[in-house]
Amino acid sequence: MSKIYFAPMEGITTPTYRKVHKKYYGGIDKYFSPFIVVTSTHQLKKRETREFDPFEENLVPQVLTQRGEDFAWAANMLKGMGYKEVNLNLGCPAATVVTKGKGSGLLRDKDKLRRFFEEVFTESNLPDISIKTRSGFIYHEEAEELAEIFAEFPFKEIIIHPRVREEFYQGSPNLDSFNIIKNKAKCPVIYNGDIFDINRLTECYDAEGKEGIMLGRGLLRNPALAEEKEFDPADKRLPAYLDELYDSYAEVLSGDRDILFKMKELWTYLITGFHDKKEEYKKLLKSTTAADYKAAVRGIIG
Ligand SMILES: Cc1cc2nc3c(=O)[nH]c(=O)nc-3n(C[C@H](O)[C@H](O)[C@H](O)COP(=O)(O)O)c2cc1C
Repeated sequence: MSKIYFAPMEGITTPTYRKVHKKYYGGIDKYFSPFIVVTSTHQLKKRETREFDPFEENLVPQVLTQRGEDFAWAANMLKGMGYKEVNLNLGCPAATVVTKGKGSGLLRDKDKLRRFFEEVFTESNLPDISIKTRSGFIYHEEAEELAEIFAEFPFKEIIIHPRVREEFYQGSPNLDSFNIIKNKAKCPVIYNGDIFDINRLTECYDAEGKEGIMLGRGLLRNPALAEEKEFDPADKRLPAYLDELYDSYAEVLSGDRDILFKMKELWTYLITGFHDKKEEYKKLLKSTTAADYKAAVRGIIG
């Protein structure tokens, strides 16, 4: 069976979320932290530090930066904390990130991208380095040149979300560009994109996901997806998972408002498994207190 990774999702797959998911559900070989922004000052904000400190087993911290030198600094700092692998974000499509030449913005200028990696790999003693990339900035045809660049460097793994930046999360993943990069790669290649149910997951095991699969939104919709279980609205773990997530957020956030924001964001994915609960879901979205929220959840999951 292929390895399964939990995708990084900013604001959602927080240390709190990961702790609770791990407790109730299995099947995940590695979790990835949402991106940690690293600038040339090498000073991390407290909020960023919390993404990877204290040390977490099975976690790969992900770094978002525009200079190879800064990435190498972060990788060595994370290695010092005990992390064996560090991941580079080459996928974030947000305009604020891309205009600074970070995330998928690094894919735009291929010479600059190559120089970025040259700078990284001049460092000695690095941890394993993996990348999570899109298959192009504007066109899928860019995959050819990206494949050549990626094959020049000793990555541990390449995770590909085969959409270009311009697509954000629209349209369908482009399997041709995925295969172009995969066929030239000198390391295992992991597939990521739009795996939402068991049929698609098992189909992927024998095809593009042979060397590994990364699941994102599918796991938010169905936290048992990596166990190869179809979403079961009556799964006994679901109320406990949601309660513990709420209580764990209450320990680190101040006030119902912030906790409810987190829970409602998760529910935008989870609700896809409850087809006849429109009215109850409206109540959940309107809730402004813990009591109203919990009553609405009971209305949905019984
Ligand atoms: C809300 C949200 C936040 C995300 N944050 C990150 C991130 O911090 N780092 C990253 O590499 N990808 C991020 N992604 C992209 C996901 O990791 C993943 O590549 C994408 O959702 C496609 O996979 P999926 O179809 O399985 O969800 C984010 C996606 C979403 C929807």
